[in-house]
Amino acid sequence: MELQLKHGSTEDLELDLLTLGVRPDGITCRPLERLDKLTDGAVRRELERRGFDGRANSQVMLPSYGANPARNVLLYGLGAKPDHDVFRLLAAATVAGARTIRGRSAAILLDEGVDANSKLQALAEGAALAAYRFGRFKSSNDEIALNELTIANGDDDSAAERAIEAGRRMAVATNFARDLINLPADEATPEFLARTAFDIARRDTLECEVYDRAGIEELKMGALLGVAKASPREPRFIVMRYRPVGASDGHVALVGKGITFDSGGLNLKPAASMEEQKRDMTGAAIMLAVMSELRWFNPAVEVRAYLPCTENMVGPAAIKPGDVLRSRLGKTIEVMNTDAEGRLILADALAYACEAKPRAVIDAGTLTAAVRAALGTRVAAIMGNDPLLIDRIRQAARAAGEPLWELPLVAEYADELRSSVADLRNIGTSGNAGTIMCGLFLKEFVNCSSWVHLDLAGVSFAKQGSALAPAGAVGFGVRTILRYLLAEH
Ligand code: BES
Ligand code: MN
Ligand code: ZN
Repeated sequence: MELQLKHGSTEDLELDLLTLGVRPDGITCRPLERLDKLTDGAVRRELERRGFDGRANSQVMLPSYGANPARNVLLYGLGAKPDHDVFRLLAAATVAGARTIRGRSAAILLDEGVDANSKLQALAEGAALAAYRFGRFKSSNDEIALNELTIANGDDDSAAERAIEAGRRMAVATNFARDLINLPADEATPEFLARTAFDIARRDTLECEVYDRAGIEELKMGALLGVAKASPREPRFIVMRYRPVGASDGHVALVGKGITFDSGGLNLKPAASMEEQKRDMTGAAIMLAVMSELRWFNPAVEVRAYLPCTENMVGPAAIKPGDVLRSRLGKTIEVMNTDAEGRLILADALAYACEAKPRAVIDAGTLTAAVRAALGTRVAAIMGNDPLLIDRIRQAARAAGEPLWELPLVAEYADELRSSVADLRNIGTSGNAGTIMCGLFLKEFVNCSSWVHLDLAGVSFAKQGSALAPAGAVGFGVRTILRYLLAEH
């Protein structure tokens, strides 16, 4: 059952859980005072005993001893200067707390004066992200989870309601990407992604065009075709277009890597590295998810998405190390490692996207294992040719709580991509700086002065769950890109 988010007062609610946001100096917040009085000071004594001081992200769950309409009270420390991350995590702690006490209804009550709508948005976003589960293949589920969360604050207006809905929608988009990424490769095929794109387009009146193998041949996308050669499942090249209600000054292009399974091709991956490669369509999934909420968020700028989708398989028809592919741009590529396939399909899609002269291009995907060595599982890499665009996207990422770190596109390293038989090779010669080498390779196909590349290979899939995402697909990037598009005019 999906989590319902409401805006209102907690006065007449019978709740399983009530969460109070508490500041270090606000240990005297009013609802807490009342509870303390009704319990003859037991609450305060218990808080002292546990050393709860309202520090950011500290928490204590207490029974309310019947003194409160809620069965349990969660006190959540906001710290002295709470930011959006704290509010997202407070909401996530409410969802997790409800799960432990097997509660279905909860409310969040903020200290007086905390009523800015962006905070309501962060609360709704955090709750709906934390509530996500991928239950598709579970035959039974004995978890009792929250299904009604009331977010209470002083004023009762439509702006507050809209803020909560915006937060929920950010999470709905992210959760949609998570669903696509979590689906097994045999279900989330290129054809399935194309059907999904059509469904979104029909629902939201977007434009959608899909090219099959023959269509991709006509587009002369030799790099994408090369990767697709060994797969019995047909590749698809998906193009989507959102037009805003008003006139748009140019458009932004989104390009997402859609490898629905990466076996490595003939330079086959070892078993342990192949285990999770159903996630290799993360780039395409997050762009589809972004497209699926544009009609509601209604950004002023036109947005086009380009999603090259295929499997990377082995077989008698597979491309071999040493084969040369002719890309859409005309540059030839000597494939030295068939496992560096993401950059091949992105090369054709980037070249194609740039032909329409977008004012900015963002590409994303799970490109290199090296990015996980460099930045780990919580920070993604950003590279590009326009410091201003990088800045804007990093700003959006900060607001979304999806940290990005810039890696330099070191010009000298590009020499390593020279081939003796073709224009380029698809990997460097030294094996160093794998993530940067991939960025430098992509740059060769970008005919646009405002471009960024996001490498999500470290962050896209979590072995262990966190406050805002259970184990599995994280959907990292969706909320950053949506926020960036909303800030564009
Ligand atoms: N899909 C992989 C990258 C990846 C690795 C994603 C781990 C998620 C988790 C990509 O296609 C790949 O195989 N990259 C190679 C590049 C190498 C051959 C230059 C890699 O990182 O090993
Ligand atoms: Mn690969
Ligand atoms: Zn891959």
